[in-house]
Amino acid sequence: MGRSKLDKFKDNELSRYVVQPGKKIFEQIKGNWRNLYFKNENDLVLELACGRGEYTIGLARAFPDRNFIGVDIKGPRIWRGMKTAEEEKLINTGFLRGHIQNLEACFDDNEVDEIWITFPDPRPKGRDERRRLTHPRFLDIYRNILKPGGQVRLKTDNHDLFEYSLEVLSSEGDVLDLVFTRDLYNSKYLAEHYGIQTNYEKRYLEEGTEIKYLKFRFNAHDGI
Ligand SMILES: C[S@@+](CC[C@H](N)C(=O)[O-])C[C@H]1O[C@@H](n2cnc3c(N)ncnc32)[C@H](O)[C@@H]1O
Repeated sequence: MGRSKLDKFKDNELSRYVVQPGKKIFEQIKGNWRNLYFKNENDLVLELACGRGEYTIGLARAFPDRNFIGVDIKGPRIWRGMKTAEEEKLINTGFLRGHIQNLEACFDDNEVDEIWITFPDPRPKGRDERRRLTHPRFLDIYRNILKPGGQVRLKTDNHDLFEYSLEVLSSEGDVLDLVFTRDLYNSKYLAEHYGIQTNYEKRYLEEGTEIKYLKFRFNAHDGI
């Protein structure tokens, strides 16, 4: 029989791969992911809304010289990624359990090299616009924790969220090198997703939905 939700919460509490409130390292981690957690000076890449952490795991396997952190609020989901990281001893992997709106409590300015946002909840209702992960208030957070020139990438099945994201990005003054496709699998950007498919992506592909992809960088900001 599989592990229950409660078992998974307990496993997360005991696993060194999960950083979450209640653990000593959670209080100390801001600005210290490299020296306290990974114990190297390699790049730091985040997967936001990571769910089961497919990108975190897939990228960690492909790029052993970079560090990958999956972020999600749901413990039982990140449990899957944590288990795979444990089983494969992927020491360049970690999971942070928390709200993305609180990222700045756990990452210092300029600490992060790259951000992937993988199939975030589309939040279609107008009153939920502030909860979309490409809303300007989230972009402000990404801008602060990213190093100058750090890349942001978004993959989604959702037409409205994608168009909304393009609109928001076009009105931000410091967005550079924005490229996008509304059909990743028939585009020149296909190689950029490294063949990694998330749980949600597999479902949407089975339904015949086209996968949208964009990437951009922020121009250098103050304080560098
Ligand atoms: C549609 S699922 C996608 C999961 C995974 N990326 C995939 O493609 O299979 C969206 C995920 O975002 C997480 N999430 C949504 N809003 C969040 C927030 N503000 N902070 C942290 N996690 C959030 C949810 O818990 C959920 O696991």
